[in-house]
Amino acid sequence: MLRSFFALNRRASQWVARRLPHAQDDLFARYEEAVVAAMNERPGQVVIDVGGGKTCPFTARRRPALGTRVFGVDVDRGEIARNREVDAATIGDASRGLPFADRSVDVIASRMVIEHLPDLEPFVADAVRVLRPGGRFIHLFPSRYAPFAVLNRIVPQTLAKRILYFFQRGSPFFPEGNCGFRAFYRDCHDSAFRAILARHGFELVEVRPGYYQSFYFDFFLPLYLLSAAYELLVRGLGLRDLAAYLLVVARKP
Ligand SMILES: C[S@@+](CC[C@H](N)C(=O)[O-])C[C@H]1O[C@@H](n2cnc3c(N)ncnc32)[C@H](O)[C@@H]1O
Repeated sequence: MLRSFFALNRRASQWVARRLPHAQDDLFARYEEAVVAAMNERPGQVVIDVGGGKTCPFTARRRPALGTRVFGVDVDRGEIARNREVDAATIGDASRGLPFADRSVDVIASRMVIEHLPDLEPFVADAVRVLRPGGRFIHLFPSRYAPFAVLNRIVPQTLAKRILYFFQRGSPFFPEGNCGFRAFYRDCHDSAFRAILARHGFELVEVRPGYYQSFYFDFFLPLYLLSAAYELLVRGLGLRDLAAYLLVVARKP
């Protein structure tokens, strides 16, 4: 009964979503495009997928003639062991240094990982060490002040997981087993992330905010509409620190 109620609300919310301009901006696709473009720029490049987990969204789009090598680095042995898409997988905590030699890497990328690092400063510092000059630093992550991120910080982690599972089971936005790592969102907002990159000498290529996160609330249409109205306001006022997601592309000079 409750499941049918949620399903009905979800269908109505999805009808609304198709009419929301900011819901059409697919940052996940843009992230993939950015990594693929950097990865296929030159022959013989080395790419690291930090916190790669079970999958790597871009290896299949390598140009075979270029001989690009993709390495996955993840703190969780169980996750990375299931990754069949990277060329080699290493277990490592990205906030304690990347297991690569100085100036040996061309692209460092991550998707939905930065928010899990308790401190970004050592990660960014070590990225500068391992990247070659001209190397790219490309990350997609949820932003600290998005409503779902604020809720995720306030509510204890086990309860947050249960709530998400209860309301979103079967939703295409939340595939089974793809949630549950502790998130800190430390410096995960536009101004703070820009400041860290500037401190470590990175040049910004693109910082693209995404405002759509109402799918978290699509199980109840009134809540969804309230959330969508908030997003339209924040986007209209250009309040980038309140965005839902950020895609950052930076370059080591
Ligand atoms: C939400 S998953 C994202 C997985 C994958 N990037 C994707 O987009 O499907 C977060 C991943 O980050 C990894 N992770 C969390 N903290 C990490 C750290 N300190 N160092 C390396 N990986 C970490 C987790 O083990 C997990 O695989």
